[in-house]
Amino acid sequence: MTDLKVGVPTVTISHAAQFDGRTVALCGWLYNLRKSGKILFPIFRDGTGLMQGVVVKSTVQEEVFQRVKDLTQESSLRATGKIRAEPRAPGGYEMDVADVEVLQRVPEEDPYPITPKEHGIEFLMDHRHLWLRSSRQHAILRVRHEVIRAVRDYLDGHGFTLVDTPILTPAACEGTTTLFEVPYFEDDKAYLAQSGQLYNEATIMAFGKTYCFGPTFRAERSKTRRHLTEFWMVEPEVAFATLDDIMELAEGFICSIVRRVLANRRQELATLERDVSQLEKVEPPFPRISYDVAVERLQKKGSEIRWGGDFGGGDETMIGEDFDRPVMVHRYPAQVKAFYMQPDPQRPELALGVDVLAPEGYGEIIGGGQRIHALDLLLRRIEEHKLPREAFEWYLDLRKYGAVPHSGFGMGIERMVAWLCGLEHVRETIAFPRMLYRLRP
Ligand code: 4AD
Ligand code: MG
Repeated sequence: MTDLKVGVPTVTISHAAQFDGRTVALCGWLYNLRKSGKILFPIFRDGTGLMQGVVVKSTVQEEVFQRVKDLTQESSLRATGKIRAEPRAPGGYEMDVADVEVLQRVPEEDPYPITPKEHGIEFLMDHRHLWLRSSRQHAILRVRHEVIRAVRDYLDGHGFTLVDTPILTPAACEGTTTLFEVPYFEDDKAYLAQSGQLYNEATIMAFGKTYCFGPTFRAERSKTRRHLTEFWMVEPEVAFATLDDIMELAEGFICSIVRRVLANRRQELATLERDVSQLEKVEPPFPRISYDVAVERLQKKGSEIRWGGDFGGGDETMIGEDFDRPVMVHRYPAQVKAFYMQPDPQRPELALGVDVLAPEGYGEIIGGGQRIHALDLLLRRIEEHKLPREAFEWYLDLRKYGAVPHSGFGMGIERMVAWLCGLEHVRETIAFPRMLYRLRP
């Protein structure tokens, strides 16, 4: 430390405006360096933003000029200088650099692997631990954080109690084909949770309205732009609620998240070149169409879908493209849905379930519905689905001791973020994605 720094406050780039005209220190990394004869323009990043520095040869000590000139991309540093308003600069401010202390200089012989030139996606994914520093990835993860905060605030503000559900579970929730099995001590095995729903069907009988929010696992063999093997799901569950009630909840929930991101993450959406006018249209009411109507619409558009089949990703895209906001498709054939779905009393071959499909080709972001509350029917379904009854005894108890109609849904955070950010693939919406062929870094 030189004398110059005594009494100099260390500030973040996001707060630099408050220090206009003052000498401050920034701790960060070298993002880029432009050299133009006797002036250097280093761009610093510190996790809160980017700031251009200006180093004029005639106004700094010779060795400071040389040190900055020799800086390599992503070297860590502490820069000291005066903050000055500069309308043409990205954040509106620049730093007249007086000194730079280098904490670690990235060596020329082993330079930072991610350069401004184009890299292939596999290369970037292999370097995900570094790629996170780039402005696009930074913007996406900031949107993700905002989505998560909005999710929590909405549910906390609507009378829900957060209950964390287990990750090691003894049985399947969403079908046995996507279970990750793990050994569980002697002679026993467990499965990584596919959903916390079954447990929150228990907790709502204690609290009325609950939600869980955590990592969820699916051994998905599908290699699509919408599937991860580990993703984060938020699942609200409500006692005494019907399918209609939770469709209304889903509508308010989605709108509040979209509004919140529009209000607080404009800058990030701009970095991502997201067309926000599409998001501004997301207001209630959302269209609600039955599965029957959705199938008719799809057939007219040339889809191969037959009544009774589940929608593929392409079908979801086609349904969604007719609407400027999310569409709720309800009452699917029971045969394509999970064992716990309450049948429609008018047409028992249908399940009182709903999928919310995002516009702009993003497909399903929410899945949910009303749950079976009658013991005999639930028992029958467990048998039909060849599920081990022993593992569900506790779940059956909920139908013996004060059963009530109840409903809920799950929203995948990554699908939501992909849509809000306008991304092609969910892999960029989580810091370290897990997919069929990716477990590293
Ligand atoms: O439709 P899903 O499978 O529903 C359930 O798990 C219910 N138990 C939820 C409930 O009612 N409490 O999954 C819900 C949502 C999907 O709409 C999607 O957003 C996300 O979770 N999702 C995935 N996201 C990324 N990768 C995957 N493999 C996903 N599978 C589901
Ligand atoms: Mg689903």
